[in-house]
Amino acid sequence: MATGYRPEIVQRAFVDFIGSRLHPFRSLTTPKLRLVARYELSDDLIALRFETNRAFRQQTNGAKSGWQGGQYIDLRVLIDGIYHQRSYSLVGLANRPLWWHDAIVDSAPIKSKRHTVTIAIKAQGMVSRYLTKHLPIGATINTSVPRGHFTLAQSLMTAQREASNREHSDKDNFQKNTLLFIAGGSGITPMLGLITQALNNQHQVVLLHYNRTELASFTQQWQQLHAAYPNSFRYHLINTEDQNSYLSGSRHLTTDSLLSLNLPWADTQIFACGSQALLVGLYQAATDITLPQGRYLRDSITIENFGSALADISFDRHQTGDKAINVQEHTIYLRARQRQFSSDTTLLAAAERENIRLAYGCRQGVCQLCRCNKVSGVVKNIQTGRLSGDGYEPIQTCINIAMTDVVLDI
Ligand code: FES
Repeated sequence: MATGYRPEIVQRAFVDFIGSRLHPFRSLTTPKLRLVARYELSDDLIALRFETNRAFRQQTNGAKSGWQGGQYIDLRVLIDGIYHQRSYSLVGLANRPLWWHDAIVDSAPIKSKRHTVTIAIKAQGMVSRYLTKHLPIGATINTSVPRGHFTLAQSLMTAQREASNREHSDKDNFQKNTLLFIAGGSGITPMLGLITQALNNQHQVVLLHYNRTELASFTQQWQQLHAAYPNSFRYHLINTEDQNSYLSGSRHLTTDSLLSLNLPWADTQIFACGSQALLVGLYQAATDITLPQGRYLRDSITIENFGSALADISFDRHQTGDKAINVQEHTIYLRARQRQFSSDTTLLAAAERENIRLAYGCRQGVCQLCRCNKVSGVVKNIQTGRLSGDGYEPIQTCINIAMTDVVLDI
């Protein structure tokens, strides 16, 4: 009787094991990269171009275009006998290399641009220094396939959801919204592919790039892009050491510097990647900009968090999956407001379920806007798994769940 089960006569894992001894780059199952070129992308960014193996291409090509601008890969690098894993944003798009470095790339000994990926790295930290200075050309390393939600598709989903919530909106126009890209330093890397993709999709694009150094090498490239898209691309390069480049007289991102961009905020999606200080500044600035129909600009912000998604939380149920957390119900007391509510999820979400408004920004543990003081009780951080003490200490309500009854100084 046919059961549909077909035993593998020769196990792929076994073939892979033997094959990797003969040729480390080849694999039926493991995505791998081989370094083919290294070159300067800007004053302080080194680009590394890798050839992809067949397993990488097969596992990536489920998505027709290969990958989306803004995604990243996890590289697994062996240094002094220890494996280290780091996430790096992909530069450019799978089938559409960047507009300015084709000439450099074409000199590399590779069969096709479609079979390569490029990352850009600042030579900071052990792994990045190793990749930029010591990894020999021709060396093979293991990698994940491209992943992450810092993509236009994610932004369109958000815009679509927002449009469908509005009473009198042009629901078909959400794809043409304005995109504001805010980058700090090397946070520009994931934006390089996203911006070209956005311009090709006929978005209005504005770039705000904060950097501590002179940005001469990138300036030329943004000029080129502006010449190609004069009506839909503009950029502001802020050298934090040069007052002449500041927006609204401030070296930091503020509400005034955002407003000076004169954007249609109700239809603007924001992508941000940079230091925590930059992201905190952005969420604080966005909190002061009000939108029609009770909407908040902070809800239109997408930040790059390299896949550090929050755990799934569920009340008193059997859970499966790596990041699932099983939570008991506890009571939260807000001392100053003299309110209380039951919580079986994050403190922020549980409060909102009871129509109690608490301060928040990113809801991902980044911006600190939900930070408050806990008077007593034990909470658990769902990103790190760390349990708090039971005394007075600051906590973030968006990433903590109650493990006992808790009193907050709110
Ligand atoms: S809302 Fe941003 S850290 Fe909690």
